[in-house]
Amino acid sequence: MNLAIELKGIEKNYPGVVANHDVDIQIHKGDIHAIIGENGAGKSTLMKILYGMVKPDSGSITINGELASIKSPQDSIGLGIGMVHQHFMLADNATVLENIVLGSEPIKAKVVVDYAAARAKIEKIISTYGLDIHVDDLVSDLGVGERQRVEIAKVLFRGAEILILDEPTAVLVPQEVDDLFKNLKELTQNGLTIIFISHKLDEVMTIADNITVMRHGTTVAEVKPANTNKKQLAEYMIGGELPSPRLASTKPREEKVLEVKDATAKDRTGREILHGINLDIHAGEILGLAGVEGNGQSELIELIMGLVKPDSGSVVTVGLDTKEADLRKIRDEGVGYIPQDRQRDGLLMAAPLWENRILGHQETAPMSNGMWINKGAAKSDSERIIKEFDVRTPSNDVLANALSGGNQQKFIVGREMSGDPKMIIAAQPTRGVDVGAQAIIWDHLIEARLKGTGVLLVSADLDELFKLSDRIAVIFRGSIVDYLDPRTTTPEQLGLAMTGEKIA
Ligand SMILES: Nc1ncnc2c1ncn2[C@@H]1O[C@H](COP(=O)(O)OP(=O)(O)OP(=O)(O)O)[C@@H](O)[C@H]1O
Ligand SMILES: [Mg+2]
Repeated sequence: MNLAIELKGIEKNYPGVVANHDVDIQIHKGDIHAIIGENGAGKSTLMKILYGMVKPDSGSITINGELASIKSPQDSIGLGIGMVHQHFMLADNATVLENIVLGSEPIKAKVVVDYAAARAKIEKIISTYGLDIHVDDLVSDLGVGERQRVEIAKVLFRGAEILILDEPTAVLVPQEVDDLFKNLKELTQNGLTIIFISHKLDEVMTIADNITVMRHGTTVAEVKPANTNKKQLAEYMIGGELPSPRLASTKPREEKVLEVKDATAKDRTGREILHGINLDIHAGEILGLAGVEGNGQSELIELIMGLVKPDSGSVVTVGLDTKEADLRKIRDEGVGYIPQDRQRDGLLMAAPLWENRILGHQETAPMSNGMWINKGAAKSDSERIIKEFDVRTPSNDVLANALSGGNQQKFIVGREMSGDPKMIIAAQPTRGVDVGAQAIIWDHLIEARLKGTGVLLVSADLDELFKLSDRIAVIFRGSIVDYLDPRTTTPEQLGLAMTGEKIA
């Protein structure tokens, strides 16, 4: 047996939390080995241990048949292990070449980099694995998929033969996922080994040679896609039957929570990026917004929230004309906002959960009486969120960055849905959450709709758009190019509309 990695009896405890317990995994050379499990199951912790970022309490790691002692990422890199982080760590104002060469290592003053040699080596890596990036491009000009390929090239440049990818597809649109999978196949055909973490069981079934399932910190099953199915995987993950969301449909009400009329908007450089947008959301309606990322979704959200003012036309959010009302006022009137980038816009990572409950709500009841913050209310309401949204945490007092990614997301969704807002802007609300938590979040969105909340659901997950939306608007290059009825549209038709093709 040709094993790239063997993990035995890995154990890691945090105060009040067993992050890894009795973890045993064998990973064969040249395999794509998937690791799946609920939010908080211990996947990222295990990868951090393997990469030398977290020290295990006990257990052994064997790399290529030799017992390894990994105390830092340097040790791990030295053993041919590379990690592609979910939150990319690239310098925006540097080129692809510079990013790959310098990477995230501190630049030592005396080191002179031989750029010519590095360039040749990188060009070779790019062409061998079909990575489709250009060394002289500025990283700030790159899309998400390309940035990810730069990260991959960076670890390959440092000699990695084992690649760890923690939820690499969470940030990608379907086309980019296909491209990534081609790259991964290319890598394994060249003898590299890949550890692939994902919540998307479809993907795991498509790409993995082997699947390890983790539950409550420990490994509970190892299967090959040919011998299992999605339902069984989900059951291994949660140790029981999958909850199914109630998908009740309702009749939207007359009253509108959003009215955008012929609105255009410019970006900071004065270029028009939203053109003649007409968009209404009724109370009690979920309007899906479909589109390939970067077609104006973020700008549209900023327009609705009053952060960007329309150049012409008008935007009325929960009854407030955004020409007069600012973000604070709009939020206070009853708008919940689940941002796409939870770590940057959704949480204070170094603050306890209960403080994060106040974030964005520091001027309204019950978090504040207008003058003073009500600590007690923040604490008890974050307790409620933890229960209702099944946020896995030992307590209210842990720092946000001690929560697993999916549990951070559940907390934000809970906070933004507090107090029955009139409207919710939900940008990728279930990105990075496991199937069970996805069902919980869907349930809450559907319940909010029943109560008369209007929801703008911005999602790259077509399945989610079809399941939840009353109508789907398609955004393409800054225009709404189509309105589709999810009951009569196929995913293929929606996919076409997203690329700007008119559906006959
Ligand atoms: N630095 C830390 N301090 C305290 N607890 C932590 C820390 N890092 C992780 N944990 C806890 O360890 C457990 C496992 O977390 P981990 O991030 O490994 O989960 P995960 O499987 O990657 O989940 P997700 O799918 O949500 O990313 C969680 O309960 C988490 O709260
Ligand atoms: Mg994780």
